[in-house]
Amino acid sequence: MNNFTFYNPVRVHFGKGQVTNLKEELKDYNKILVTYGGGSIKKNGVYDDVMENLKGKEVFELSGITPNPRTDKVYEGIKICKENDIDFILAVGGGSTLDCSKAIAMGAKTDEDFWDYFFEEKNKPIDAIKLGTVITMAGTGSEMDGSCVISNIERKKKYGYGHRLLYPVFSIIDPTYTYSLPKYQLISGTCDMFSHIMEEYFSEPDYENTTDNISESLMKTVIDSIRVALKNPEDYQARSNLMWASTLAINGLTATGKSSDWLSHKLEHTLSAYFDVTHGMGLAVVHPNYLKFVYKNHLEKFRSFAINVWNIDPEEKTDEELALESIVALQNFFKEIGAPTTLRELDIPKDKIKEMAENTAAYKTSYSDLSTSDIETIYNNAY
Ligand code: NZQ
Ligand code: ZN
Repeated sequence: MNNFTFYNPVRVHFGKGQVTNLKEELKDYNKILVTYGGGSIKKNGVYDDVMENLKGKEVFELSGITPNPRTDKVYEGIKICKENDIDFILAVGGGSTLDCSKAIAMGAKTDEDFWDYFFEEKNKPIDAIKLGTVITMAGTGSEMDGSCVISNIERKKKYGYGHRLLYPVFSIIDPTYTYSLPKYQLISGTCDMFSHIMEEYFSEPDYENTTDNISESLMKTVIDSIRVALKNPEDYQARSNLMWASTLAINGLTATGKSSDWLSHKLEHTLSAYFDVTHGMGLAVVHPNYLKFVYKNHLEKFRSFAINVWNIDPEEKTDEELALESIVALQNFFKEIGAPTTLRELDIPKDKIKEMAENTAAYKTSYSDLSTSDIETIYNNAY
């Protein structure tokens, strides 16, 4: 395996009823900004659970954070933090709420424009308000990573930013909070976590290693658990398996000793920036098509994927046949759970493909070195 340094400082409180840990976690903070999305937490009782544990604190609220969170909500949050001297941000919701809150946390500590300063210029000095999370859906893993992804609609850009100061201090992960999740979001989150695992798995080294064996096990868990959760949304075991798998998929564990890829995410972020595509649904379309483009030089890894994840019988098959079968199995899985597998299903106009390819900045990875025309080919193949 490659050399690595593994760092993850997030304290996780996992399981039903763990929200009560908020009292202890927040005992040293007084002015709390609670951030959330379009109101699901008010319908499913999570808001009440949180507020019950914030009694005695001075609480401010920022609501209405949308999926694919945008710059406007970040500016709004920064203003609240600066005007009220907020000393802790508690993000309650899905990955969008968490990401928006992370951007607010760092944006509130500078007088510069947060987008230009952090997302365009990068590597600028950073400070951030401390942040904790109560995550209500499984998918992004934002509850245990130091990244946030923000959309700038005017500039047609969706960019990520990562820093160690953006790791939450703690995260409450209660699988019962996901029972109310609409089926569409359950499917999308599942595609997202699966894609996160593959972004690391399909990167060198290709030979069998501890990290990839963990990844194979996570992928099998996701496959089994989503099938159960779709049939019975209140199956605690399936929900907890999905939640923990999604957290582990991006907390650094599955990247240890691997070179990492993440180009499928680059390809998806362009779809979201142009057409507000739901992240996981976009990945279900582009990731298998990216793999079809790069598999030829990495047959050893695809062989393991076929046999160990999809239980494909290798008897009398060439490695190339196995690789292609494994990608078909992946696409069939996405289809089976109700995700799209073509850009057409996402209502992307074909005549935008060239422009989207030109606006997707790729970089060299151990699996690929995509040119603009390669990206165009992948999008066209996905159509
Ligand atoms: O806004 P509310 O009313 O809360 O409703 C949300 C939203 O409409 C709803 N929802 C969430 N939990 C619910 C619920 N509805 C009922 N019951 C619950 N328990 O689901 C909808 C989608 O929420 P959102 O937060 O947008 O979903 P997700 O967690 O998939 O986040 C997607 C965003 O995260 C970014 C994506 O690009 C996208 O912008 N990502 C963040 C990453 C990170 N920070 O590391 C990595 C990922 O690769 C990804 O890029
Ligand atoms: Zn993702």
